[in-house]
Amino acid sequence: MRMSDVLRQLRQQQSRAGARPRLLQRFEAFLPVDAATPLLSLGEGFTPLIHARTLGRAIGCPMLHLKVEGQNPTGSFKDRGMVLAVAKAIGEGSRALICASTGNTAASAAAYGAHAALDVVVVLPRGQVAAGKLLQAQAAGARVVAVDGGFDGALRAVRELIDDPDPRHPMTLVNSVNPFRIEGQKTAAFEVCEDLGGAPDYLAIPVGNAGNITAYWKGFGDYRSAGLVETRPIMLGFQAAGAAPLVSGYRVEEPTTVATAIRIGDPASGPAALRARDESSGRIEAVTDEEILDAYRDLARYEGIFCEPASAASVAGVRKLAAQGAIDPGATIVCVLTGHGLKDPDTARREALPAIDAEPSAAGVRRALGW
Ligand code: F0G
Repeated sequence: MRMSDVLRQLRQQQSRAGARPRLLQRFEAFLPVDAATPLLSLGEGFTPLIHARTLGRAIGCPMLHLKVEGQNPTGSFKDRGMVLAVAKAIGEGSRALICASTGNTAASAAAYGAHAALDVVVVLPRGQVAAGKLLQAQAAGARVVAVDGGFDGALRAVRELIDDPDPRHPMTLVNSVNPFRIEGQKTAAFEVCEDLGGAPDYLAIPVGNAGNITAYWKGFGDYRSAGLVETRPIMLGFQAAGAAPLVSGYRVEEPTTVATAIRIGDPASGPAALRARDESSGRIEAVTDEEILDAYRDLARYEGIFCEPASAASVAGVRKLAAQGAIDPGATIVCVLTGHGLKDPDTARREALPAIDAEPSAAGVRRALGW
């Protein structure tokens, strides 16, 4: 071996040692990956868990932590499950993906499908998808189909397509009814346990189609079964008022106007979510638009964390339960923030303070600021 080769190899080893790990590799022991599963990655997972000291004090929960899933490659938690679902689809020889989505699943499927050179079809509820998500799917070259009937109508259409396959257009379903989505998403629970050195007392999470709460519960269970943690958290799920079918006493009302990502009438993983609630002695509750928007603003202003409105349902719910004295204020609480604020520029714009016009000089800026 020539000296330059030795140096090159050493350098490669060093750069590998410092490289971002691949999610599918890092948690391989807990995932259904085999020799046929390509180690696909767009840099998903390994998102920060942030101690929200200011907001926590403000709502009476000083040990409030935020799992910032908006820092995934397409800006939502969906990437954790999508990377595995797409890797498995490739391993099985699939050439095309399909999903119904309120936007984030579509953006993720479009990106991973593009990366893996697969065709992607996304079926969306017309007029209910935040601008950023729709653009992500379009930018990645997915075929975007809009239907009436909300998310439930879109999922029904996609399931019918899968149940009556057209041999000329074989497709893999990548909604969270695909078990690999849940398997990939459970890695977020592993990270929470590792960052805290154990499971939290409470895990609070927005609930839409109920895949993510199911995935976290599975993840905490896997780590406990493996002896890596001793306890599992109490699970707190929050749905948007008006679209809260898992909440006891729920009535169909006007759907929430802001948290369209979780506007789902018939969650596919509803039974699994109720099991997570019951096995953990937890709760699934509804939060209103106003409560969601208060949390959304406070997360950005107190903590510098800009999430999308549906994500803020977790913090809105914890704030409400804390005010009712329904949760132990000294407990370690993790709120999952599922998506990035830039997903939904229209809500952000409505909530934003206006820019102040000024002359381009120090005097002009001072005048504008009222100094
Ligand atoms: N938060 C965000 C930002 C979401 O986009 C979703 C679901 C959820 C929470 C709820 O997660 O469905 O696993 O209970 N979005 C799906 C989609 C429905 O199509 O992007 P869930």
